[in-house]
Amino acid sequence: MHPIPTFNAKGVSIPKLGFGTSQMGDCAEIVAGAIKIGYRHIDTAWKYKTEKGVGEGIRQSGIPRHEIFLTTKVSHEYLRANDFSRMVDESLRNLKLEYVDLLLIHWPSPEKVPFDETLHALAKAKQQGKSRHVGVANCNIALIEEAIRLCPEPIINVQVEYHPYLDQSKLLSAVRRLGLAMTAYCPLGRGRIINDPIVADMAKSMGKSVAQVVLRWLVQQPNVIPIPRSSNPQRQAENFNVFDFELNPEQMHRLHQLARLDGRIANPIGRAPVWD
Ligand SMILES: NC(=O)c1ccc[n+]([C@@H]2O[C@H](COP(=O)([O-])OP(=O)(O)OC[C@H]3O[C@@H](n4cnc5c(N)ncnc54)[C@H](OP(=O)(O)O)[C@@H]3O)[C@@H](O)[C@H]2O)c1
Repeated sequence: MHPIPTFNAKGVSIPKLGFGTSQMGDCAEIVAGAIKIGYRHIDTAWKYKTEKGVGEGIRQSGIPRHEIFLTTKVSHEYLRANDFSRMVDESLRNLKLEYVDLLLIHWPSPEKVPFDETLHALAKAKQQGKSRHVGVANCNIALIEEAIRLCPEPIINVQVEYHPYLDQSKLLSAVRRLGLAMTAYCPLGRGRIINDPIVADMAKSMGKSVAQVVLRWLVQQPNVIPIPRSSNPQRQAENFNVFDFELNPEQMHRLHQLARLDGRIANPIGRAPVWD
């Protein structure tokens, strides 16, 4: 097992690859197994109903809490300040932990609740020691910039969908200009990319799997941190082993060329912002 490289976002060291836990149900054993493989960055959310399993999995793994970078998120129903604070406490109770490393607003909704109010509640969670750092998710560039301007604590991370079928070049340039980390969710296009013939050819020629080529493409991009999910220990290990090979510039370019207009997966009507 090798240590995972990290990305430094405003002085905060974040493992360059994480482990997603949506749709996993009771996941304590799965999470403990993933940590044993070497994952040190776990992504959960109140909405996924996996916080209990994640907390239990971290304890079962035997790895000290401080060696794990843990993210959770407050859901869009709870963006008013009092609701937000109550939900942070509920997440910590679910996790049976005293703090998370990164707390995110899962889907901001500034037309329903003033962004300022939610961002102050987010900052309060950090000031109270309930999260070491704070960030946002599912924001366009304008919302990221607004979050940075309005939040009393530094925003270090934005979590958005990113995989070869979705062009995120504009957002990524902004993320780099602002010095943030970009967590890439649905990094395998929720499994859709696995049957892509172009990536399959490339993977075959390199003696790697399609998932490994896609995850390598993501980790090789500065600021980008993919968080693939798998319930299968073999695939978890496969997804983790992407730091011992490289894609050349032409291979990187070929994967960028796969972006298509209908590539976006998570786009809930009434909740999603106007994407860049
Ligand atoms: N902030 C947000 O709004 C948001 C939205 C969506 C997701 N997320 C986060 O991002 C994480 C990842 O996204 P996701 O779970 O939607 O999708 P994903 O990681 O792109 O894809 C997961 C799917 O790919 C399959 N898979 C994983 N590794 C594989 C491999 N090596 N070979 C073949 N198939 C493989 C998994 O099946 P098996 O389990 O059978 O391996 C699963 O069906 C989530 O779990 C969650 O933590 C955040």
